[in-house]
Amino acid sequence: MSIVRTGMSLLCALGLATTVSAADALNVRLRILEQPSGPKIEATVYGHFVEHLGRGVYDGLWVGPESPIPNLKGWRRDAIEALRRIRVPVIRWPGGCFADDYDWRDGIGPPAARPQRLNKVWGGVIESNRVGTHEFMDLVELLGTEAYIAGNMGSMTPRAMGQWLEYMTSASSFSLAAERRRNGRDAPWRIKYFGVGNESWGCGGHMRPEFQADLHRQFATFLHAPVVRVASGDGEGRDEVTDIMMARAGKHMDAITLHYYTVPHRWDDKGRATGFDAARWAKTLEAARGIEARIVATTRIMDRHDPERRVALYVDEWGMWHDPEPGSNPAFLEQQNTLRDAMVAALSFHAFHRHTERVKMANIAQLANVLQALILTEGPRMLLTPTYHAFDLYLPFQGATPLQIELDTPAYREAGITLPAVDASAARDADGRLWVALVNLDPRQSARVSGLPGRRAQGRVLSAEAMDAHNRFDAPQQLRPQPVQARATERGLSLDLPPKSITVVQLESP
Ligand code: AHR
Repeated sequence: MSIVRTGMSLLCALGLATTVSAADALNVRLRILEQPSGPKIEATVYGHFVEHLGRGVYDGLWVGPESPIPNLKGWRRDAIEALRRIRVPVIRWPGGCFADDYDWRDGIGPPAARPQRLNKVWGGVIESNRVGTHEFMDLVELLGTEAYIAGNMGSMTPRAMGQWLEYMTSASSFSLAAERRRNGRDAPWRIKYFGVGNESWGCGGHMRPEFQADLHRQFATFLHAPVVRVASGDGEGRDEVTDIMMARAGKHMDAITLHYYTVPHRWDDKGRATGFDAARWAKTLEAARGIEARIVATTRIMDRHDPERRVALYVDEWGMWHDPEPGSNPAFLEQQNTLRDAMVAALSFHAFHRHTERVKMANIAQLANVLQALILTEGPRMLLTPTYHAFDLYLPFQGATPLQIELDTPAYREAGITLPAVDASAARDADGRLWVALVNLDPRQSARVSGLPGRRAQGRVLSAEAMDAHNRFDAPQQLRPQPVQARATERGLSLDLPPKSITVVQLESP
């Protein structure tokens, strides 16, 4: 349970919400109850997605073993170190839309002998296949993460899909495992998740859900290793996709996906990642909150077909989608990443925490240089985006138990949009520590949160003067979390949130 009461501050009501002093801060009350609001927050809701798209792999995370850029088995070392710090729980690969045009056989064997193909989905550039199964699994092992392989249901046979899984996981002496050994890998890899197609309603084959359901059943039958079978679900707000898939193929899947992108304006005019005004800020945050409505609608349908909640919901593509950076290849989906993107990430995390009964995985799109990236690279230079810092701030929530809360917050109003000024999420981690995360959506007013339990709050905050604050290669540390502390007075423990901020603190009792 999470109760949110949205009142309205007098300042907002009078339309006088300009820069205010701490004394004028919005008054927010947060009560944290000891009862869990649902099962634990799976670490995998902090999951990732790497696609053969633009500079996501080549010229991004992958530089190759011969590169002068320091690397581990071809993967850039600085990126590996940064990703280890945020305990990456799972990576989905190789697409996205790319997955349904990918032949896994192109990516095995001696690199020099691998075929060059056109990446027809993303710009028609050459796909060298230098990164294939072995290289991706190197990345998985370097990060100590789980692999989520996206299989091709759109343009290959069930036999080809089944054989890929067998190639990766078989311990036998038969030919596919023997071929893997000849290619340099003796022990089978651990493949926990396997996607049966991607966006089958769109780039994955433009299928009717009825046809897709039959195809899913057929393809899933030939996945003989014990994997979590992930069915492709809705991504366009069409409930019938989930409904028909659950009704006709529910028994043949362990999870179904939901894709949700936050577009600040319209799909044909998304808007720039930087240089936006307060109206666009509010519109973006309103759109970001829409992810929860899609989770709720999808969950309701799943509940009808699967009341025991055997099938999980994986939000395996989510994030901000802006217009491409001027001067970049539009097919590469490169965009800058600002404080606004981090706010969207934090609000999405809270939505995942509120629906742990179904949402067991989520994968932001994407890890490096594509869409809402955590990492941007330029030659040897690399920077960590505000979204990376949001993942870092929320580390204590991986595996923690979400708690019920009662939140009393004023409204934030802008350009005809009304949103709760503050959004919150509380959880207890496996060591019994109590954590609270607070997002102040209002870009102008600070907020004072009272009613918190404990004697001391200690943690970090991400905030900035400008709504579009971001890191650049010549100023890579401009925006990063800063320490924050508060002690209880005789009136109890309260915490001040700067305007447009994300705060994550541990609440300590002496
Ligand atoms: O993440 C970019 C693309 O968005 C993915 O390839 C596709 O699945 C979605 O439409």
